[in-house]
Amino acid sequence: MNTTTVRPSRNTLVDCVHTATTAPSLHNSQPWRFRIEGAAVEVYADPARRLDVVDPAGREQLISLGAAVFTLRLAIQRAGYHVELTTFPRPDEPDLVARVVGGRPVAVNPATEALAEAIPHRHTNRRPFAQTPVPPEALHHLVDAARREGAVLTVASPAGRDQIMAMAFEAGRRLRDRPGYREELDRWTGYRPRHDGVPVWAVGPWDALEAVPVRDFGELSELRRPVEPFEPYPTILVLSTDGDRRPDWLRAGQALQRVLLTATWQNLATTPISQPVEVPEVRKQLSDAATGLHAQMVLRVGYGKVAGRSPRRPVSEVLLPDRAP
Ligand SMILES: Cc1cc2nc3c(=O)[nH]c(=O)nc-3n(C[C@H](O)[C@H](O)[C@H](O)COP(=O)(O)O)c2cc1C
Repeated sequence: MNTTTVRPSRNTLVDCVHTATTAPSLHNSQPWRFRIEGAAVEVYADPARRLDVVDPAGREQLISLGAAVFTLRLAIQRAGYHVELTTFPRPDEPDLVARVVGGRPVAVNPATEALAEAIPHRHTNRRPFAQTPVPPEALHHLVDAARREGAVLTVASPAGRDQIMAMAFEAGRRLRDRPGYREELDRWTGYRPRHDGVPVWAVGPWDALEAVPVRDFGELSELRRPVEPFEPYPTILVLSTDGDRRPDWLRAGQALQRVLLTATWQNLATTPISQPVEVPEVRKQLSDAATGLHAQMVLRVGYGKVAGRSPRRPVSEVLLPDRAP
């Protein structure tokens, strides 16, 4: 009997890494590096790409890495291989956050295919959304997507939404008072063509109604940011985990990307809003002491016009050389 298992080739895995780099990341910092070893892809945090002012603990860096890990898993599955995931495989190497191994060939199921199809169409949308309500079934799919990755997604009630939006505005004010905040934001706003950061065209307008707390990218620029009315009653979701350590942050990132792709698959536009989880006192109010849930991210979903594709670094820049034999 022939027991040889065909594993994904290096070329296939390079393609999957390329797909993984389309994941969302805080300020498009793309804080990841990858190493291919046989049928395994190791995912590393890049310490030089942590945002010390808004993310001193590296929580959002791990969320960004988690989003890349989920995308990598999905890309390998879509290529027709079983996936084995080990998170933090070597305790003496904390920057090695995951090892994703392409295993035996398997048939691609339609759900995997549908999510994978959404990958190139997912973009952060910072523009006004339509006032059309998001149907409960669509929200149910998002809640289920988070659950499948071991996280909890809560749909804010109208009263909860107003409170969360107020917290986000308050967090934005506090962040602006934090030393180095504006300079850090400015460093990651792309005024000139580059392969990372948030390009000025992606920044979007200010909300004339002041209902949606859009991030203050490009504030130091001389470009005037237009003002437009956003939807007055945004649909707001809170992504939480039951723990609040590095593995929980990585899990939150995988859940985030599964939720975002599930939204994209349903033609929903999405905006991560992380100001309220960047100020510890505000984050505490958003977390649920009764259930022990820790808020990791706030999301806005709705129906929007098509958003553009933000830049990414080429794969050659994120692939680490093979380990010395
Ligand atoms: C952890 C995390 C936090 C983010 N926070 C915000 C935010 O507060 N405001 C915002 O407009 N976008 C936020 N984003 C979206 C990123 O800016 C976006 O993913 C990145 O610029 C790449 O663009 P893309 O999502 O269109 O591919 C966040 C994304 C992640 C993963």
